[in-house]
Amino acid sequence: MTTTARVDVLTPALYGDGAPYGQFAWLRANAPVYDHVLDDPNLIERCWVLTRHDDVRAASRDPEAFSSADGIHLRRKATHQFRPNMINMDDPEHQRIRKLVSGGFTPRVLRTFKTHYGELAGQVVDRALAGGDTFDGIRALAAELPLLAICEIAGAPAEDRFRIFEWSNVILSSEDPQYVPTPDAFQTAVLALIHYAQELADRKRRQPGDDLISALLGPDGQMPLTDEEYEGLVLLLLGAGNETTRSAIAQGLLAFAEYPDQWATLRDDPEGTLDTAIEEVIRWASPVNYMSRTATRDIELHGQLIRAGDKVVLLYSSANRDETVFEDPDRFDVRRTPNHHLGFGFGPHFCLGATLARIELRAILEVLIPRVRRFELAGPVVRARSSFLNAIKELPLRVA
Ligand code: HEM
Repeated sequence: MTTTARVDVLTPALYGDGAPYGQFAWLRANAPVYDHVLDDPNLIERCWVLTRHDDVRAASRDPEAFSSADGIHLRRKATHQFRPNMINMDDPEHQRIRKLVSGGFTPRVLRTFKTHYGELAGQVVDRALAGGDTFDGIRALAAELPLLAICEIAGAPAEDRFRIFEWSNVILSSEDPQYVPTPDAFQTAVLALIHYAQELADRKRRQPGDDLISALLGPDGQMPLTDEEYEGLVLLLLGAGNETTRSAIAQGLLAFAEYPDQWATLRDDPEGTLDTAIEEVIRWASPVNYMSRTATRDIELHGQLIRAGDKVVLLYSSANRDETVFEDPDRFDVRRTPNHHLGFGFGPHFCLGATLARIELRAILEVLIPRVRRFELAGPVVRARSSFLNAIKELPLRVA
């Protein structure tokens, strides 16, 4: 065993050059249930960290022992304006809300969007390439399609995506001082998005459309959720629905710039490789670094005693590099199969937007494959200062 001071995998500043994968590997081998002391004013003081694939998976499917109800982030509560949403709930409340919206995310419904997303992706890539062969892969490419898609699903006008981009950066990367220079900035963004959500519902009551919020309101315009639950849902969908997929696309582009042979493999045989490439991008990117749980009772695991009430971190990025599950886990391999990554979580909270995210990734890659022979980095990559999301803020790319 080590002392708690030896390994730190949660201080946001450590993620400046990407997730500390070497530390994760050490923890998997030596301290798979790690008693982590945190030293960040925005985060709680202590938690357990699960780093092995088996343990993250087992805890994710056992909500009776590992509850989501006290939140899935390590942020200190005092700095945090809570809205109840499904990700922060256990069953039966969780199921009640998930069922209300899951109809809008079934593979069947989303398949009808497929051609349309292909067209949107085409427009996004046209715009990105129109400015020349060098551009910021985040604003010009990765951010656009997820924002357009989630705006359409929610029934928000496409031009509002720029505001949603700014708000969700603040809310989801709240540990980054560039986004959140003062605690007020976080509150302000949450309140602005909440206000926006209520305005959107009012608009849909007056003028219903073919979208999720109109579907929730139903023909009588009655919201089946309390105001707070509705606001929590919009916060979750607009935030989770764009930032994570943006990160997946961005890290995919970065990986293809770093491993040009993998881009060549994908281009040589898109039909045979796209499915596995998409899963590999998610595994590689692990856009959500962790979600946390709260132990509901004392639990003994690998010789450690997790006490009722303790916070437990499910470190997906580490689980996705577990050498007992993935052969040569630090190799980016677009043909990797099997690929049982946990990038979308596991169990009752399995990502509601997983099918949507996969369709978006496919749409972008399908458009880029015939048009880009290779990606190169045209400057330094700037990552968000966050240990919650593996997010990139600036990705200077040159394409040939
Ligand atoms: C590559 C992109 C994405 C990644 C990596 C990702 C990752 C995740 C993860 C790890 C969870 C599990 C949370 C937990 O167990 O506590 C989750 C849940 C969720 N995701 Fe995603 N997500 C992505 C895209 C999306 C999109 C596009 C949407 C919606 C439009 C979305 C909506 C949700 C929702 C609503 C939940 C909560 C489900 C529940 O609590 O039952 N996600 N996501």
